[in-house]
Amino acid sequence: MAKVTVSVIKADVGGWCGHSNMHPDLIEIADELLEEAKEKGIIKDYFVAWCGDDLDLIMTHTKGVNNPEVHKLAWDVFNKCTERAKELKLYGAGQDLLVDTFSGNVKGMGPGVAEMEFEERKSEPIIVFVADKTAPSAWNYPLYKMFADPFNTSGLVIDPSMRPGFTFEILDVKKNKMIKLNAPEDLYDILLLIGASSRFIIKRVYRRKDNEIAAVASVEKVNMIAGHYVGKDDPVLIVRCQSGFPAVGEALEPFTYSHLVEGWMRGSHYGPLMPVSLEQATPSRFDGPPRVVALGFQIANGELIGPVDFFEDVAFDRVRQKCNEVADYIRRHGPFEPHRLPLEEMEYTTLPQVLERLKDKWVEVEE
Ligand code: F6R
Ligand code: MG
Ligand code: MG
Repeated sequence: MAKVTVSVIKADVGGWCGHSNMHPDLIEIADELLEEAKEKGIIKDYFVAWCGDDLDLIMTHTKGVNNPEVHKLAWDVFNKCTERAKELKLYGAGQDLLVDTFSGNVKGMGPGVAEMEFEERKSEPIIVFVADKTAPSAWNYPLYKMFADPFNTSGLVIDPSMRPGFTFEILDVKKNKMIKLNAPEDLYDILLLIGASSRFIIKRVYRRKDNEIAAVASVEKVNMIAGHYVGKDDPVLIVRCQSGFPAVGEALEPFTYSHLVEGWMRGSHYGPLMPVSLEQATPSRFDGPPRVVALGFQIANGELIGPVDFFEDVAFDRVRQKCNEVADYIRRHGPFEPHRLPLEEMEYTTLPQVLERLKDKWVEVEE
């Protein structure tokens, strides 16, 4: 059987209202265009998801990762949605489409991408996580818990096929280099790197038993691509589950703790990551707090059977409550660190302009 590819390609092409929410017209347009593409055989199946002002195209096909036809399809969908966003004067219409013409691959052009190709198992459960008002570094903590922490994933102790552990592919975003480290023996080195999550970001996870792909995240840094701040690249993540991968419940368990992530207002603050349903994916308080939605699918001969909107579950009520408490607490810092990001993390904001304005006012310290 041909391998199946799952491609999740996302962009913010306009917010309703401000940067808070997705206008239904954009979802409808994306649905229509992807339905057409399905009929033409470009893709096998699709689901149009969203989180805050981000439109997330979840697609399956048999064309492999980085396929120009699939990337062009996503690019065309985002452009058509942008046209409607401009008519409605939605906020930041087309904000993530950084170039005028498509050239083979959406990478470097603004949208975020997570893709994986694999042989469909007898039963193939996956979870697609989509987030808003945060950055790809937000996945470091949950991916570590899912694939390396036996206190989260009991399968690491109990399931013999998970016992050899998992390989983490980690990107150094400052040096643009990549390293592969193995859990469990490299655990401390993995933590040394991914704990510095503004610089080191997990891109992929592989199962060591057979080198099967287990997880892939989007790591495009929109702000770095453009050379100036144009919006944090709200990330997506695909995780394969069960039978030698983390169980669905083990992949969801890390989100019962609302760890602090970078993002929130103006992409310049730390705030707690709140797991929510699609319906609740509407960051409004101080443009947040940062949100994450988890959509479960069974893949059946390339078709997406789902979604199951996991964080609808009352089992996540308590973490949402906690998240609001943490938000109350950390917001009181106002423009002070550690609520506000350190200066070097804000180098793509307007801050350099402020420092430039003050530059002639500095005097030497007299003893
Ligand atoms: C963060 C985000 C928002 C905006 C904020 C200011 O990712 O999208 O918090 O940064 O609403 O937006 P502008 O500068 O467009 O008024
Ligand atoms: Mg926006
Ligand atoms: Mg967004």
